[in-house]
Amino acid sequence: MELILFGAPGSGKGTQAKKIAAWLGIPQISTGDILRGEIQKGSSIGLQVKEILAGGNLVSDALVIEMIRARLAEEDCQKGFVLDGFPRTEAQATALDLLLEEMGRSIQCVLSLDVSEEELVARITKRQTCGKCGAIYNTQFSPAPNGRCTCGSDDLRVRADDNEETVRNRLQNYAESSEILIKVYEKKNLLSHIESTGLTPDQVFTKVREALGHIAHE
Ligand code: AP5
Repeated sequence: MELILFGAPGSGKGTQAKKIAAWLGIPQISTGDILRGEIQKGSSIGLQVKEILAGGNLVSDALVIEMIRARLAEEDCQKGFVLDGFPRTEAQATALDLLLEEMGRSIQCVLSLDVSEEELVARITKRQTCGKCGAIYNTQFSPAPNGRCTCGSDDLRVRADDNEETVRNRLQNYAESSEILIKVYEKKNLLSHIESTGLTPDQVFTKVREALGHIAHE
């Protein structure tokens, strides 16, 4: 199954993408995770994008499209994938269509996780991510038990772009770019909205499974 998870920063794309990936046995492909991985490695791409991510701005279309092209060609994407944080612009959506067409594939569903702005800010500014396995926690909504990840690590990190000022910029960027993408996928009849404000991750996942049920069992 080829899926896109769409939503504002903090809407739960990473949280739900991990659940979908485990449920369907397909990889989660997060452009944000790939970029942060490059920064951590200190690669030339990492050096190029470090300040852009720290400021909450978008990396160039050319760079992320190339990253996605390489990632989708990998063996584990044969059975499908869940895209998290891509596409984010109309140019990225067009490039994705062309790329999938070349591969004889297409997107089957786009899920938009809808959350109020107030809750988005509360979620992001309280996020912690495990430096070892990538599990996502929240000091208010889903704290790591006894300050440790379930993988055993106590390396719980706060992302460099999770401060209130950068978060406002990320939300502004999302507001500017999301409208056109929503129209693109509505027109293709692929978009399902998942109203997620006030719901726990498991409650959201129940809605996600319902929305994908008919495709997952084809
Ligand atoms: P990216 O990593 O994609 O960040 P984002 O879109 O800002 O989204 P987040 O990762 O902040 O949130 P999320 O929706 O995954 O929520 P999460 O599950 O973690 O991108 C980062 C940067 O990389 C961009 O700013 C840009 O610079 C660059 N970039 C990436 N892709 C790009 C692209 N395609 N083009 C150009 N540039 C690109 O949850 C958030 C918190 O909420 C967690 O603490 C979690 O525990 C909690 N939570 C989750 N669900 C719930 C719930 N139901 N109830 C309560 N709390 C919840």
